[in-house]
Amino acid sequence: MEKLIVHGGQRLTGSVQISGSKNSALPILAATLLTAERCTIRRVPDLSDTNYMLRILGELGADFERASGVATISATDIHPDAPYDLVRKMRASICVLGPLTGRLKKARVSLPGGCVIGDRPVDLHLRGLEALGAKITVDGGDILVDASEKGLTGARINLMGKHGSTVLGTDNVMMAATLARGTTIIDGAAAEPEVKDLADFLIAMGARIEGAGTNRITIEGVEELHGVDHTVIPDRIEAGTFLAAGAMLGDRVTLNRVQPAHLQVVLDELQKCGFPLEIGTESITISANPDARGFDLTTQTYPGFPTDMQAQFCALACAVRDASSLTETIFPQRFMHIAEMKRMGADMDLQGATARVRGGKPLKGARVMASDLRASAALVLAGLLASGATEIHRLYHIDRGYEHIDDKLAGLGAQLERAKDI
Ligand code: EPZ
Repeated sequence: MEKLIVHGGQRLTGSVQISGSKNSALPILAATLLTAERCTIRRVPDLSDTNYMLRILGELGADFERASGVATISATDIHPDAPYDLVRKMRASICVLGPLTGRLKKARVSLPGGCVIGDRPVDLHLRGLEALGAKITVDGGDILVDASEKGLTGARINLMGKHGSTVLGTDNVMMAATLARGTTIIDGAAAEPEVKDLADFLIAMGARIEGAGTNRITIEGVEELHGVDHTVIPDRIEAGTFLAAGAMLGDRVTLNRVQPAHLQVVLDELQKCGFPLEIGTESITISANPDARGFDLTTQTYPGFPTDMQAQFCALACAVRDASSLTETIFPQRFMHIAEMKRMGADMDLQGATARVRGGKPLKGARVMASDLRASAALVLAGLLASGATEIHRLYHIDRGYEHIDDKLAGLGAQLERAKDI
């Protein structure tokens, strides 16, 4: 295993190129199962999660190649049984359920385990597939989907859960519905840009979809889908993470190859705090502001403040000489980073699902433990702010979702290095 040693206190300046979106690439890679023809996907970030997804596609029988950000997949002859040992390593593997059901009318995928950000149910995914006519059973920890008898028939489905819409649930039902007979309407659909990007990919394959990017998506089923060449949208959460770094320590940090519109609520919050922002068509420049004001945020489904940015803004709150609060409504337990930041001297506490931060207190480097992808990135940010060295253990959490984050930060002037974690 590896750890990251961050030597804090360096100012950041210069430009960084944002990678393709992990949360767009994963369902789009899964969607290649919907056709026997070759698909080419560009700007696929080099992450352990995307590598896992490609391996799962390979185990399902697809041929794939990957060379510097371009993945080509031919799911010519596939079977419906996803490999447990790979699926258990990545919860997002659940998004092969929809395309396997759509293409083969059968699927076997292990129930995803929980994770540190909380329980990760898939009841809404299964509700949607059942509404399309599939028979769902759970056997020995596996989800078995069977629509081989009658096939799939379009239906009107509401996918709203107690924490709002479901991103991968919407993806799964939309993918299956592309090859169902008739019309499917998904109410309470997730409106995230990554759902829209998946829909654009499916439409390019010949699917008939309207309303993606809103809370109501209509799909007219078709007989079959064909191969396509598609470029994945930029990663708005990676971009948000670098914006937080720039707000904490930046003298004009510029992000390139981003889509500012995907980050509107994050940009609005940063502007309200008083961080100077210059927004271009595909770039954003941000600088720190010692007189920035605090913020009171609540995470919401898109276009609200993203839960995937909550931990990073907890770190940013430490740099602001003011009080801030962050309330988590999507994954109420998503606060593993609080205890670790307090070990660095952060003045913060948790009241229910609300973190309260009294910023401006200097942080001191410490040995901390990464726990999930975004909490780990937040600890890197805290380490950049702290005096002295911060050692972040279990670095594999970060490598799941950030492409070469240490090289990118070093390119902005950060001092950090990987080391063996004995
Ligand atoms: C996606 O996960 C993202 N992952 C997550 O990003 C992100 O945090 C999440 O959406 C919310 O935006 C990918 O896209 C690969 P959900 P997903 O289904 O689809 C509840 C990261 O850091 N729910 O939208 O799995 C669920 O418990 C990752 O990149 C049900 O109750 O999340 C949660 O409270 C972490 N029943 C809420 O809905 C279900 O059947 C939103 O979950 C499904 C979900």
